[in-house]
Amino acid sequence: MSDTGLSQIWPAAARRADDGVLSLHGLTAAQLCGSFGSPLYVMDLDEVVTRARTFRDAAARAFSTSTTSVSFAGKAFLSKEIVRLLVGEGLHVDTCTLGEMRIALAGGAVGRSLVLHGNNKSDEEIELAVANDFGKIVVDSADEPERIAAIARRLGKRARVMVRVTTGIHAGGHEYISTAHEDQKFGIPLLPAGAAANDATAASLSMDTVASGPALAVLKDILARSEDLELVGIHSHIGSQIHSADAFIEAAQRVLRLREAFWATDGFVLPEVDLGGGYSVAYLDDDESMDIQTTLDAIADAMRTESQKSGLPMPVVSFEPGRWIVAPAGISVYTVGTVKPVHLSDGSTRTYVSVDGGMSDNIRPALYGADYTAVLANRSGAAETMHARIVGLHCESGDILVHDVELPADVRRGDIVAIPVTGAYGRTMASNYNQALRPAVIAVSSSDNEGSEHMSDAPRLLSEHGEAHVMLRRDTIADLLSLDLG
Ligand code: LLP
Repeated sequence: MSDTGLSQIWPAAARRADDGVLSLHGLTAAQLCGSFGSPLYVMDLDEVVTRARTFRDAAARAFSTSTTSVSFAGKAFLSKEIVRLLVGEGLHVDTCTLGEMRIALAGGAVGRSLVLHGNNKSDEEIELAVANDFGKIVVDSADEPERIAAIARRLGKRARVMVRVTTGIHAGGHEYISTAHEDQKFGIPLLPAGAAANDATAASLSMDTVASGPALAVLKDILARSEDLELVGIHSHIGSQIHSADAFIEAAQRVLRLREAFWATDGFVLPEVDLGGGYSVAYLDDDESMDIQTTLDAIADAMRTESQKSGLPMPVVSFEPGRWIVAPAGISVYTVGTVKPVHLSDGSTRTYVSVDGGMSDNIRPALYGADYTAVLANRSGAAETMHARIVGLHCESGDILVHDVELPADVRRGDIVAIPVTGAYGRTMASNYNQALRPAVIAVSSSDNEGSEHMSDAPRLLSEHGEAHVMLRRDTIADLLSLDLG
C-alpha cells in the first residue's frame, strides 16, 4: 500500500494511503473516532518529543558557549502527560494561571523547572509559586516586587524574580498576539515616556535613556529587596507566530542594552535573559516553515556581538516556545454532517461542509482570521473537487474552521475530515459555547515511545505500529449539569 503525499505540515507519522485513509502510527482516523467518538483532537506524542528535543538541542548548539534553558508555554496546550513528557526531556514549564500551575505541578514539574507569568497575578498564584520555589516569577508591573517580597517574607522564602520588559518591538501574526509595543497591557517599558521606542533601533538607544526608563527602576527596586527577592534576569516576549529572526534580535539587543545600563548604574550583572516564545509554524502547505536552528543561530550571533561590545559575559539565555512545540503535533478530526452548496453572486458555488465541532474547539479562525487546510480522511473520494468551506455547528455565521479548501466533490454525511496543525491553542482556547462538549484529546504514539509507558490506565487502542489513549477526556452532559446549581 503506497501513500499519497502528505505535506510537511502533518506529523511525520501521518500517512494517507492510496485509498485516502488517513492514519497516525497505523491508527486510522475512522478507528480513532470509532473508539473515542467524534470530534477529536489527536496529539502525536512522538512528534511532541521530537520537536521538544529539536528546540532544546538547537538552542544548546546556537549558544554553545553559554547556558540555555527552554520552558514550554503551557498556554499552548497543557495536560499532566505532556508536562511529564516534556520535563523528561529537560524542558521547564511556563504557566500563567492557578489552573496551569496546578496542572504543571500535578504533571510532576517541580521548583526551578516552573515559571509564573501574568499581568494580574493573584496573591494565591504568587503564594503557590513562592511556596513551590518556582524558578522564575516574571514581574509584570511596578507594584509586583513589593507584593512578591511580602509573600516571600511571610512564607520564609526568597523568591526568584525576573522583570518583563516591553521593548517597543511590534511583531506577531495578529494584533491580539503582539505583545511588546507600547499600547498594550504587558510588561514594564524599557524606555521613559516620550522616547520613541517603536522607531528607535537598539543601537540608537543611549545608555542614559535606558537608565531613566521604568524597567531599570523596577530592577533597582528588586535589588533593594534582596533579602526577599533574588533577581534572576530580564524577560522579553514580543508576540506570537513570528516568522523571522529580526524582531527577536532587535528585542534581544534592547534587553542587553538594559543589562548593560543596569551594570553601569548598579554594578549588577543580570544572570539571565529570557526571550519568550513566538516561533512560527506553517499552517498551510505553502507557508514557510521556520528553521529553528537558523533562527536561534542568528539570535545567538547578535547576542554574542552585543555582549562583547558591552564587555559583559553572555547571560543564560532562555526561551518559552509553545506553538512551535505542539501545534504541528496535533490534528483535529471531525465527522461531516450537512453538506450544502451555496450559489454566490459571481456565479460560483461554495459548498458548506458542516462538521460536529466548530468555533468551540478551534476559535482561531474566528478570532484571528487564521487559515487552516483539511483533507478527507476516510476515503479518497471523487477525483473531481469542489470549493468547500468547513464550518461548525454553532449559531454564528463566523463559525468557520477552514475558509477555503478543495475537497472531493462527493464529500457526504458520515465522512471524516482532518485538519492539521491544531495542537496549539485549540483545546486550551476551547469553550462550551452553545453548551458544546469540548472534544477529547487522544494521545497517539509509536509502540516504542518511552513516554507512553508511564501513562494512565485509560483504555488503549493498539495498531501494529502504535497506540492511542485518552489524554484529556471529552466533556459530558453530566459535566455541564454539575456546574449548574439552579
Ligand atoms: N511566553 C509568553 C510570556 C507568552 O505570553 C506566550 C504566548 C508564549 C511564551 C508562547 O508563545 P508561542 O511560542 O506559543 O507563540 N492564542 C494565540 C497565541 C497567544 C499567545 C500568547 N502568549 C494564538 O492562537 O495564536
